[in-house]
Amino acid sequence: MKLPKLILSNDIIQVYQKQLGQWDNLNHLIVCRKTKKACIVDPFDGSFWEDFCQDNNFQIEQVWLTHSHWDHIKGVEALVNSTVFSPVVRCHELEQQRGYNAEYVQWWSHNEHSFETCVIGELEFSVHCTPGHTPGHVVFIGNGIVISGDCLFLRSCGRTDLLGGDAGKQRASLKYLQTIFTHISGTNLVVPGHQYQLQDGTTPTVMELSKVINSNEALMAIEDDDKWASLPFLSFDDDLAAKARRQEAQQS
Ligand SMILES: [Fe+2]
Repeated sequence: MKLPKLILSNDIIQVYQKQLGQWDNLNHLIVCRKTKKACIVDPFDGSFWEDFCQDNNFQIEQVWLTHSHWDHIKGVEALVNSTVFSPVVRCHELEQQRGYNAEYVQWWSHNEHSFETCVIGELEFSVHCTPGHTPGHVVFIGNGIVISGDCLFLRSCGRTDLLGGDAGKQRASLKYLQTIFTHISGTNLVVPGHQYQLQDGTTPTVMELSKVINSNEALMAIEDDDKWASLPFLSFDDDLAAKARRQEAQQS
């Protein structure tokens, strides 16, 4: 088993990152150092994390989902059915608008562009509701880390042409995050839901928030209608977009 990368480590928190699956998904494990309680964000491979946490004496207490796309929830069932751990699974209730309704989920229900506080061990995080990529997408912020899922990638932002996606809401969510970012102190690391290439050809999986704020193409475009409208990554002409159009036609 290739071990996950330790991307943040101090007296109170450790964050591990691992790219899993063929969609370049980035999984993140948050560990409270004092209590050894852990939370996995967007698990692609449940047994991988079960083994890793057992080996390191971490207690998987929770699973947090940025959103309910298949490639972000694939590993949840294995963790729910684990004989070692019995984690609580959390997701925002607006994800039900795109048909996600697993019976074991405990739903967040706060309004769009607001946040709720969640705790793992002695670590506190804010859970920000940032719709656009999906109806109930959330971003986790706290303890020097911003787990941005498919709302905000390091170069750009997530596509909005899948079922439940909304480009206007995505733009409003990025504006909301921009405001939230101005209130965060200290050094923070942004970790997105996928490892994608930057314009310079590099493929980092972690970036300092200050660099994201000053270089992200979507954040740079949100105040300008023409720039926003010309962003190339909000929609794609591919099979997933065609499937979303069929799903929308069935729903209407
Ligand atoms: Fe997604």
